[in-house]
Amino acid sequence: MTAVTDALAVLCTDQAQRLASEQLALKLGVPVLDSASIDKHAPWAFYLSYRDGCLKLLDAASLKKGGLMVEIDPRPGEQHSYPAPKKDLLAQAVGKKTLTIVDATCGWAQDSLALFRMGYQVSCIERSPVMAALIADGLQRLAQKDWVLNRQLQVPQLQAGNAIELLAALPEAPDCIYLDPMFPPKRKKSAATRKSMAVLRDILGDDLDKQQLFEAAMQAAGKRVVVKGPDDAEPLGATPSMSFTSKLLRYDVYLKGG
Ligand SMILES: C[S@@+](CC[C@H](N)C(=O)[O-])C[C@H]1O[C@@H](n2cnc3c(N)ncnc32)[C@H](O)[C@@H]1O
Repeated sequence: MTAVTDALAVLCTDQAQRLASEQLALKLGVPVLDSASIDKHAPWAFYLSYRDGCLKLLDAASLKKGGLMVEIDPRPGEQHSYPAPKKDLLAQAVGKKTLTIVDATCGWAQDSLALFRMGYQVSCIERSPVMAALIADGLQRLAQKDWVLNRQLQVPQLQAGNAIELLAALPEAPDCIYLDPMFPPKRKKSAATRKSMAVLRDILGDDLDKQQLFEAAMQAAGKRVVVKGPDDAEPLGATPSMSFTSKLLRYDVYLKGG
């Protein structure tokens, strides 16, 4: 797979965002373009663009509308109170008594943010520079939310880089390390695969080093490692201490010393 940055440009459609766009393009080592320089022969498959008050990832087909961003509001059906109840499978898997969590595969940050809203102390790691830029933008927006400001909550911190190395250098072992690496597509394609995840797969491919990541997580975790994957995936460790399964997903829990 070619590096995602070969297929990416920053698109600046609002002159007020010129400086931010140029800084982002410089950081990612990609060109910055305006709309006039894009035609149907443009070689870029993806664009990052500051618009509608956030950073969005667009593909060539969604240049005029849409785009994907890190969604910072509660998911449909999730309670808006803080802390949100720890009642779903994710909370059961990380453990209701867990306090500190490192999400080592942050992606669109939906699991990190759900855990943050449940009151866990979360920090995030993401190795894709493109995803890290989108997450950083989402966390900045989160820090400005009234419910966060009023409670003086510390929003998750993001470390950009490979978790296999970063986990080994953590100053303190978190209670839980959470992993949701990219697995090959399920046998039967699920209609529920959200567009954001499909795009992530397109730009990043599978995470082929997930076994090493799992081993690094087992070394670095204080109490447990949780691995989220498709319900039919091979477990990353020999035998999980316990598993929580829904229709499409499985959370495998590995207790340290368990
Ligand atoms: C399936 S996505 C995670 C989705 C995420 N749980 C969410 O709720 O949006 C996997 C992400 O993990 C990242 N990743 C995989 N292996 C990693 C590693 N060794 N270090 C840091 N990030 C990694 C990938 O770049 C990708 O963005």
